Amino acid sequence: MLIRPPADIPSSEITPEALYVNRRDFLGRAAGALAAASIGGAALAATARAQGDDDKPNTYEDITTYNNFYEFGTDKSDPAENAKGFKTRPWTVKVDGMVKKPAEYQIEDFLKPHKLEDRVYRHRCVEAWSMVIPWQGIPMAEVIKRFDPLPSAKFVQFQTLLDPQRMPGQQRAVLQWPYTEGLRLDEAMHPLAMFGTGIYGKTLLPQNGAPLRTIIPWKYGFKATKSIVRITFTDTMPRTTWNLAAPNEYGFYANVNPEVDHPRWTQSKERRIGEFRRRATLMFNGYPAVASLYRGMDLRANY
Ligand code: MTE
Repeated sequence: MLIRPPADIPSSEITPEALYVNRRDFLGRAAGALAAASIGGAALAATARAQGDDDKPNTYEDITTYNNFYEFGTDKSDPAENAKGFKTRPWTVKVDGMVKKPAEYQIEDFLKPHKLEDRVYRHRCVEAWSMVIPWQGIPMAEVIKRFDPLPSAKFVQFQTLLDPQRMPGQQRAVLQWPYTEGLRLDEAMHPLAMFGTGIYGKTLLPQNGAPLRTIIPWKYGFKATKSIVRITFTDTMPRTTWNLAAPNEYGFYANVNPEVDHPRWTQSKERRIGEFRRRATLMFNGYPAVASLYRGMDLRANY
C-alpha cells in the first residue's frame, strides 16, 4: 500500500513528542474558549495543538452539539438534547480478562493516579466530516500498564453502559447493544491513544462520552467508545458494534485511509465542521507516526 506523505504537515510536527508545542500559538487561536474553560497553569503548560496551521480547533459549541451517540438518538443534535441530566456519578469501570490486576474501579479511583493532559487532535468521522478537538485525558498506555496485562493478551475491548432506561436509544435495535469496540494491544499502547475525560479543559459532557471515552486519532470516529463501563483484555479479536452491523462497510481496523472508499462514498475527502470546502483526507488522519503498527499488513484487506 502506498503511504502518502501528508501534504500540509511539516515532518517536524508529526511525532508524538512534537504534539507539545508553543503555548502562545494555541492560546492565540483558542483564547476565548480556553478562558471560558478556565483551566489551570499546569494544564496550559502541557497544552498541545493539532499539527498544521490549517487545524484551528472547532468551537466548544460545535464539539458538544454535533455528535454521534446512538444511545441518545441518531440525529446529530439528539445526544446534546437527550443526554441532558444523564448522571455519570457514581460510575464503575470493570477491568477484566487476561490481566494480572482485574478490578472494579469507581471512576475517581480509575483516574486518580494519572495526571490529565491536554492534546488537540483531528477527529475524522467515517461519514466524511471532521473536527479538531482540544481533548483532556490520560495516555491509554499509562492506564493499561497499571492493570498489567498478561503476555497472552493481544487485544483490548471497550464497552459502553447498557441501560435502556437512562439511554433511551437502546430501546430501539438500531445497533446491537451495548456499543463495543476494540484495539490490538499495541495500538492501544501507542502514545497517541488516550482515555478522554474532558474537552477545552472542562469535564466531558455526556454527549461526548462522559465520564470516560477512548480517543484514537488515526482511526475513524466510530472506533472510539463512549461512556465506558468495561475494559476486557483478550487473546482473540473482539467483535465490534459497527462490524457486526455491516461487516462489508466497517472493519476492525478502521484506520483513516483516503485510498479505501466506503462502499457508498469516497473517503478521499472530508468536510471540516464549520467550513464549506471539502479538504483532502490524510492517511492515518495525518498521524503517520502510527504507520509502523501496520507494517506488512495490506490495509485494503484489513480496512
Ligand atoms: N460510542 C457509543 N457508545 N455510541 C455511539 O453511537 N458513535 C461513534 C463514537 N462512539 C458512538 C460511540 C461515532 S460514529 C463517532 S464519529 C464518535 O463516537 C463521535 O464522537 P463525538 O460525538 O464526541 O464527536
